[in-house]
Amino acid sequence: MLDLLSSATFLLLAGTVTCDKFERPRKPIYLEKSGGFQIGGKIINSPSRPNETLSCDHGYMEYFIPWRPRRTSLVMWHSSSTQVWQNRWDGGEGYKDMFLRRNYPVYLWDGPRVGRANWACEPTTYFPSYQDHANFGAWNFGPSYKNWWPDVQFPTRDEAAWQQATSARYVEYDTKANVELQSDAAAIAADSGRIGEDIVYLTNSAGGLRAMMTTTKANGTNIKGIVTYESIGYVFPDNINITAGTGGFGPFVVPLERFKKLAKVKSIQFVWGDHRPENHTSVMESRLVAKLINQYGGNAKVMKLGEDAGLKGSTHIPFADLDNRKVAGLLDDFLEEAELDEYADGDDWN
Ligand SMILES: *[C@@H]1O[C@H](CO)[C@@H](O)[C@H](O)[C@H]1NC(C)=O
Ligand SMILES: *[C@@H]1O[C@H](CO)[C@@H](O)[C@H](O)[C@H]1NC(C)=O
Ligand SMILES: *[C@@H]1O[C@H](CO)[C@@H](O)[C@H](O)[C@H]1NC(C)=O
Ligand SMILES: *[C@@H]1O[C@H](CO)[C@@H](O)[C@H](O)[C@H]1NC(C)=O
Repeated sequence: MLDLLSSATFLLLAGTVTCDKFERPRKPIYLEKSGGFQIGGKIINSPSRPNETLSCDHGYMEYFIPWRPRRTSLVMWHSSSTQVWQNRWDGGEGYKDMFLRRNYPVYLWDGPRVGRANWACEPTTYFPSYQDHANFGAWNFGPSYKNWWPDVQFPTRDEAAWQQATSARYVEYDTKANVELQSDAAAIAADSGRIGEDIVYLTNSAGGLRAMMTTTKANGTNIKGIVTYESIGYVFPDNINITAGTGGFGPFVVPLERFKKLAKVKSIQFVWGDHRPENHTSVMESRLVAKLINQYGGNAKVMKLGEDAGLKGSTHIPFADLDNRKVAGLLDDFLEEAELDEYADGDDWN
């Protein structure tokens, strides 16, 4: 009787732990090591002085390995800058530290030409693009500039937070060629084993398309999961009637055999923030691509943080939102359901 009672208490406690995973008091972060490396790219010869070379078009991977790591590596793929994974909009804790506390190895990725990987093999040009107003709309903070959604998960009265958000951007290349370049380097990283044998890509915006392309290029079986936050642009198989786009947001069409690699990934989730109607082009594309992946035996779902998870005012970058602990809780559930939460040493340390 006593045993029964105590195991019932234990179960109850275990049940309540789930929602407290990302609450205070925080656990300290214990790292075994951190560092970074360059990967992919090529070495080209100078056209005028052939024995002088340039090493270029590599990607840059920064890593943080917990003292007692889980098996799955979380590779965080931004579209604006790595800052979005580091902090919440108000400077609070971001995904990087949240998941390090949960003992996941964390990798911050700058694909070729962006961020800390920006030594290009070709000339590039920077034109100031007066992007602040466009950022407000693209990140879905409200229907028009400084007209915030009433429920938006952003500290709307904090001008410094807005200034931080709109300043944290790299020069980026939303071109078809850059999607190929970045996914080429990322596929080499995935196959190399240097980022682990169980990889889950966490992506934002145009990073989602790049992670999907990477998956269709990698030859190994290391890519186990993809969670896209507001992916703009999708990959389609060449056996359906869809016209390939010429711009950086697709549609991208790949041979069916390559597309089928997406169906080999254990679990894929296309996540949408709030205030995204069903007739938004990318929402429609995510539903179609999920259906196609599942048609080939895969496991892809669309999740709207509003309608499906009951969150309010989630932005284009929901993992940086004021309620990012709730968004992180949903990711934690995803990892658990896909059985991607085991510890590397096989013990259950939860
Ligand atoms: C270029 O390479 C050649 C042959 O390897 C070598 O003899 C020469 O010194 C090099 N020139 C320079 C400027 O390094
Ligand atoms: C995968 O294999 C194909 C065919 O051998 C090769 O062309 C491609 O470069 C490989 N991909 C990677 C990422 O190494
Ligand atoms: C493909 O779609 C286009 C545009 O919707 C249409 O005009 C064309 O007839 C379709 N082709 C096939 C083979 O279904
Ligand atoms: C999308 O649906 C809304 C109603 O939910 C409608 O007002 C809007 O015009 C539609 N947009 C497009 C592009 O169809």
